[in-house]
Amino acid sequence: MKRIITFGTYDLLHVGHVRLLKRAAALGNHLIVGVSSDELNISKKGRAPVYSTTERMEIVRSLACVDDVFVEHSLEAKGDYILEHKADALVMGDDWEGRFDMFKDLCEVIYLPRTEGISTTYLISSISDRKAVTGGI
Ligand code: CTP
Repeated sequence: MKRIITFGTYDLLHVGHVRLLKRAAALGNHLIVGVSSDELNISKKGRAPVYSTTERMEIVRSLACVDDVFVEHSLEAKGDYILEHKADALVMGDDWEGRFDMFKDLCEVIYLPRTEGISTTYLISSISDRKAVTGGI
């Protein structure tokens, strides 16, 4: 049994998220996802997620490749979460390349390539830039 842990906001779930989670799940037998809290996002990204922590957790939990979800309250607690969830490997997108190497004495640390051309930030700005073509309906 190989337990994989990963972390993220997973707001406005998109194909980049799904591909990352599927590839993470394929590296082991049990995928645990730490979904960052609204408060953490406000302090980390300077904005509240569109979907609340509870909604984002429900959406991520509903994916077939995900076995377990929990709230990530603090970025500094990753080591504690790895131990608490008995993770054998930490998987992160390569936007974090090298940033979690300090956990290599707790578990394997794997960075996976991100999907090009999509992000929650991009979705929010592209939705807000859309012009109504039917007179505002
Ligand atoms: N991810 C990915 N490919 C993308 C976007 C995200 O593989 N195009 C991965 C990230 O590397 C991370 C996980 O999905 O491991 C969760 O990322 P998250 O920060 O929630 O999503 P983003 O779309 O990057 O959000 P934002 O634009 O708010 O930074």
